[in-house]
Amino acid sequence: PEDISSDLDTVLLTEEQITARLAEIARKIEADYEGRDLLLVAVLKGAVMVMADLARELERHVEIDFMAVSSYGKSTHSSGVVRIVKDLDVDLSGRNVLIVEDIIDSGLTLDWLRRNLQSRNPASLEVCALLRKPDALKVDIDAKYVGFDIPNDFVVGYGLDYAERYRNVRGVAVLAPHVYS
Ligand code: PRP
Ligand code: MN
Ligand code: MG
Repeated sequence: PEDISSDLDTVLLTEEQITARLAEIARKIEADYEGRDLLLVAVLKGAVMVMADLARELERHVEIDFMAVSSYGKSTHSSGVVRIVKDLDVDLSGRNVLIVEDIIDSGLTLDWLRRNLQSRNPASLEVCALLRKPDALKVDIDAKYVGFDIPNDFVVGYGLDYAERYRNVRGVAVLAPHVYS
């Protein structure tokens, strides 16, 4: 029961591909935020791997902070209705805030988060997401940094879970249908 590999189909992104893309994004972020403070904000739990790797790739001062939220009607997809379980420690007013996410699926989580954080009067607010599913979007999300656009398959790994599993897979892979059917 502890074997992971038999639950995975195609590897969509290897750890090396992710690392390389995050390095490219980090160079853009360094240029875009030159001369300004930078606060990275991630939502637990999916974004932890992106946060850890992106933050370490940045060769400049950053602060990091985390929120924990719970979506009501916790099914396989988020409802967009969100309750804050643990809020940020830091005051956002006047700060340059970059939201770090693992994936934009329907976009509902980020749509909620963007509004919530915008109301706290940051100097700027942008989004960095490793993955985006263009065919699953329900709301338009203006994300400044996107790692990869991917097909509308159920993917896991690199922070992304199915029933809280597979977050520890190093790359991003399509979940084998026998797992959820
Ligand atoms: C996942 C993922 C994103 C969100 C994307 O989080 O990490 O935060 O869903 O989906 P959406 O664009 O349709 O809103 P989830 O709510 O599963 O919590 P988790 O990060 O703890 O896995
Ligand atoms: Mn998440
Ligand atoms: Mg999840």
